[in-house]
Amino acid sequence: MLTQENISQPKQSKSYNLKAWSMGYESQPNEYDYWIDEVEGEIPHQLEGTLFRNGPGLFDINGIRIQHPFDGDGMISAIAFRGGKAHFINRFVRTEGYVAEQKAGKFLYRGVFGTQKPGGWLANIFDLKNKEIANTNVIYWGGKLLALWEASEPYCLNPKTLETIGKDYLDGILAPGEAFSAHPRFDPSCQWNNGNPCLVNFAIKPGISTTITIYEINQDGKLLHSQKVSVPGFAFVHDFAITPNYCIFFQNPVTLNPFPFLLGLKGAGECLKFYPHKPTKIIVIPRNQGMGKQKQSQEGVKILETTAGFIFHHGNAFEQGDEICVDSICYNSLSQVETKGDFREIDFDAMSPGQLWRFTLNLKDLTVKNQLLLERCCEFPYVNPHRVGHDYRYLFIGAAHNPTGNAPLQAILKLDINNSEEQIWSGAPHGFVSEPIFVPRPHATTEDDGWVLSLVYDSSHHRSDVVILDGRNLNEEPVARLHLKHHIPYGLHGSWTPQVF
Ligand code: CO
Repeated sequence: MLTQENISQPKQSKSYNLKAWSMGYESQPNEYDYWIDEVEGEIPHQLEGTLFRNGPGLFDINGIRIQHPFDGDGMISAIAFRGGKAHFINRFVRTEGYVAEQKAGKFLYRGVFGTQKPGGWLANIFDLKNKEIANTNVIYWGGKLLALWEASEPYCLNPKTLETIGKDYLDGILAPGEAFSAHPRFDPSCQWNNGNPCLVNFAIKPGISTTITIYEINQDGKLLHSQKVSVPGFAFVHDFAITPNYCIFFQNPVTLNPFPFLLGLKGAGECLKFYPHKPTKIIVIPRNQGMGKQKQSQEGVKILETTAGFIFHHGNAFEQGDEICVDSICYNSLSQVETKGDFREIDFDAMSPGQLWRFTLNLKDLTVKNQLLLERCCEFPYVNPHRVGHDYRYLFIGAAHNPTGNAPLQAILKLDINNSEEQIWSGAPHGFVSEPIFVPRPHATTEDDGWVLSLVYDSSHHRSDVVILDGRNLNEEPVARLHLKHHIPYGLHGSWTPQVF
């Protein structure tokens, strides 16, 4: 007789070794500059441009470890491709905090995610000055290379040498101290920019009510328009989604209890509390009403509700009649940022996996439908840049090697949204992947015709590889695998630009 027990799957074996995974969080204090000469396969000659990556590069100062990897100083890597060859360079962003701490040889600032200055709560009490780390994303836009971090203004770097030029206010778009999120979206055909591409980004000012500022910037770095919207309640918003007419924000059911932070007991990120019984709010803001600088308007703003979940990243969104579909990575709960213990000894099995969901928002009756698109643990979604904000077919995403359970990202998965077919390339057991970046082939005629680039940490050699996959078939072996001479710690986000630096 079939019982629940004997029809259940045999327990799948672990695809990774925790110790090997944790080695990818070793500091990389060195700065390199060289031609990559160890290449398996062949770098496509048509692949021309630069891949920029950002992520924490230092996890300790003189052996004293930081509390959370997100507190690590931003390190930019650039891999330039031309004529079947590739060049590598990496540099730390010389933020004020990085320069001061390197000089002092110890921590001088508090980190948002819990890294405290030595000396216990007395040294940290009422010290609200968090370190600016510029470690989350890097973009090339308006002729500038910008390292982004959501809580403050970007840092501008020389795109060729990666030398830090300094804080950047986008030619007056930002005032000193104003934030610019690490998750800009690139509208491939903006109706307020004669159908040319534009950058859409936001800044969050959380409080009892939260102010969202939206910026739309043309290819020359000039402001097309900006608008401010105020929404009730505290909002922790890391990412957003766009369509031709809307910006969409998910307000996770969390609150911030600032007292342990003010008292020096915890970092700000540790004071977030998740409420699994409260709804997630979805804020839909029309893009077309802020013509002129800094207009404040609530007109047309709609707030919808759905079941609780925690979302860092959205894959894509598009309009369909009176509805908007938003595809996002959703967690059942927010893993509490722990004060004690070492993040390298994390218990993956004890945390809920990120999964891909479609939220269908009805703007007429304000209802929301939820549909699970991908059960496998996944994070860092990416779509063909020409399909951002539009109906699309293929999603590329970092994924776990096994189809169920929570685990580190070891594979790159391609999901065909039309028929749920999956293709997968896995680096398990030794490899651990980063965000996949899709680069369309010049003159491509299909959405998946291009390459998927990912930095993969190879724990068996303690080095990182740049892996190039054929977007049309991820099941095949990589087109090329470029061996770097060292490791790059697990990064966060990056981007591709057709310019070669
Ligand atoms: Co992010």
